[in-house]
Amino acid sequence: MRIDILTLFPEMFNAVLGTSIPKRAAQKGLVSYHLTNIRDFATDAHKSVDDKPFGGGPGMVMMCQTLFDAVESIERQDAAPDKSRCVRVLLTPQGRLFDQSVAEELAAKDRLLLIAGHYEGFDERISEGLKPMEISIGDYILSGGELAAMVVVDAIVRLLPGALGAEDGAADETFAGGLLEHPQYTRPREFRGMAAPDVLLSGNHAEIAKWRLEQRLERTQQRRPDLWKAYLTRLEASRADRCIE
Ligand code: ADE
Repeated sequence: MRIDILTLFPEMFNAVLGTSIPKRAAQKGLVSYHLTNIRDFATDAHKSVDDKPFGGGPGMVMMCQTLFDAVESIERQDAAPDKSRCVRVLLTPQGRLFDQSVAEELAAKDRLLLIAGHYEGFDERISEGLKPMEISIGDYILSGGELAAMVVVDAIVRLLPGALGAEDGAADETFAGGLLEHPQYTRPREFRGMAAPDVLLSGNHAEIAKWRLEQRLERTQQRRPDLWKAYLTRLEASRADRCIE
């Protein structure tokens, strides 16, 4: 997978992309990161990328020309033949809420182009003309799309086949199957009067699996009624499907 990131602050990404799983995934050749400074595409003497909003109001708005030129220039590099496997993503608090299913959808693509803006917002014609998938990482306003882009890249890269070593397998992780993860324990067996559950040290793998599933169901029901409701709906639908077959 090739991931391009368009930003005014490429240096913000070095720590995240150069550490832990995102770094290892690149070293294994599963992904390559390409950072481009939007300002490189500014054409005036001041290297402007933003301007005052028409109609007045506070803040500055990201201009069309620099972003269109940047996107078109990047997409000419290594042009991927199958357009359906390439996605432009615009990070904005007005976008679709990012969750594990969006991460899975994007992890199946060959090429992503993430656009992280700063300032008050984007000229609306950027959405209209570039038709990106608009993604928000939550209902709060960040100073720019950079942190959001890092969140999105991290969540996607760990899903690429081979990105996680056997030791950090994704199958039981929180949200796998729409459930929260079961509690985890490690040494010592007892700490300040708090003991790890005996079943985990029993060596009985069937019992351990049963306990973990029960914990996942209980936790999801208690902590995330929204996920629990969706889980029950899926369960009912799959039961109905089995009755029909
Ligand atoms: N830019 C500013 N806030 C954002 C958010 N919550 N998600 C994505 N991009 C953003």
